[in-house]
Amino acid sequence: MTQVGIDKISFYVPEHYVALSTLAEAQGIDPDKFSRGIGQNKIAMPTHDEDVVTLAAEAAAKVIADEDVDAIDTILFATETGIDQSKAAGVYVHELLKLSRRCRVVELKHACYSGTAALQLACGHVTRKPDRKVLVIASDISRYDLDSPAEATQGCGAVAMLVSIDPKLLAIEPASGCHSEDIMDFWRPNYRKTPLVDGKFSTIKYLGALSGAWEDYQENGGRGFNELAQFCYHLPFTRMGAKAHRQLSSINKAQNDPSVIEPGMIYNREVGNCYAASLYVSLISMLENADHDLTGLPVGLFSYGSGAVAEFFAATVQNRYRERLMKVHHQGLLKNRTALTFDQYRDMWNVPDPQDGVACIMPNAARGRYRLTRIDEHKRHYEAA
Ligand code: CAA
Repeated sequence: MTQVGIDKISFYVPEHYVALSTLAEAQGIDPDKFSRGIGQNKIAMPTHDEDVVTLAAEAAAKVIADEDVDAIDTILFATETGIDQSKAAGVYVHELLKLSRRCRVVELKHACYSGTAALQLACGHVTRKPDRKVLVIASDISRYDLDSPAEATQGCGAVAMLVSIDPKLLAIEPASGCHSEDIMDFWRPNYRKTPLVDGKFSTIKYLGALSGAWEDYQENGGRGFNELAQFCYHLPFTRMGAKAHRQLSSINKAQNDPSVIEPGMIYNREVGNCYAASLYVSLISMLENADHDLTGLPVGLFSYGSGAVAEFFAATVQNRYRERLMKVHHQGLLKNRTALTFDQYRDMWNVPDPQDGVACIMPNAARGRYRLTRIDEHKRHYEAA
């Protein structure tokens, strides 16, 4: 059977961040609560000339470099942080990257799950049209109310993946298990900048959805727990992944071995939650940081989007996968960043988003090639440097 899956993958994170030790000090909280209690170190922060489009364009530019871009006939853009109620954010990315006009572009939404929906739909598309490729993008900016318990779980970032037949990185296996349930654990009405979240409830529902998706995965012919060499979970914060793996180990009466999840948590600790992109940041982290060769091995992936939709599936790591990774680039992005003071972070957070068509020129602050330059007459203007 023809294999389909991820041929290339990259992420982008902006230059600025606030260290959780800085947040802890300013708020009189024990820093161990963040580093050990939720398992996070930093929150990536966008400047005002960065949004889900510019983050996505940065990630996608790396993925399409040296590729046959004319084969890309579809862009699936997954985000919770949409910039328009009608126009898909991917259309701006399509223009910035100068992709073929013979292309469909659409935005997908379901909280943090939509990146997985995009990936699965892309696999179906290239199965039917094996000479085509799909650019899957997950890009999000996670913002919670200031001084709420969720503030420490903010972050942002984008992941881009090129999906094709005969993928050089990961073959996505056909078996998967889903769990959907109408619940109110995290949601964002159209008039709100920040989500409403019932944090403790959301962690309980995440774990419940994991059980449901795993059961469905098993019933659909999925692999046994012990066959999977590594596990990547949706990581709103890395302790959530540790709890998830403890539960899955227990369900399967297996030993809870932290070494099969740790490589997939390294980058997420430094970035924070980036909703639809988080699972795929974890996937990149796992591929780039696992100390043994993963060639030919299946890895398990669990995607959760509040509200709630969840999916468990597996992917097999392909021969010579390490040659396709961009480890030096990714680690450089994480290393070469600028820490914000608490006041700088709060000032950045508090700058109001333009409302009612007021003209707004964005100061030039993004480190990347792509910028939101201005919003004028209700229209967003981007440029590629
Ligand atoms: N040293 C070490 N650990 C400490 C500590 C200290 N000094 N102080 C507290 N802790 C531990 C606590 O014991 C607790 O550990 P356990 O979970 O093992 O009990 C942990 O730190 C968190 O502390 P609290 O229980 O006091 O929780 P909190 O009030 O800080 O809130 C949260 C945590 C509910 C996750 C909150 O950050 C939140 O609402 N986040 C946003 C929602 C979220 O991320 N939900 C995840 C599931 S939903 C999802 O995945 C979709 C999505 O992306 C949003």
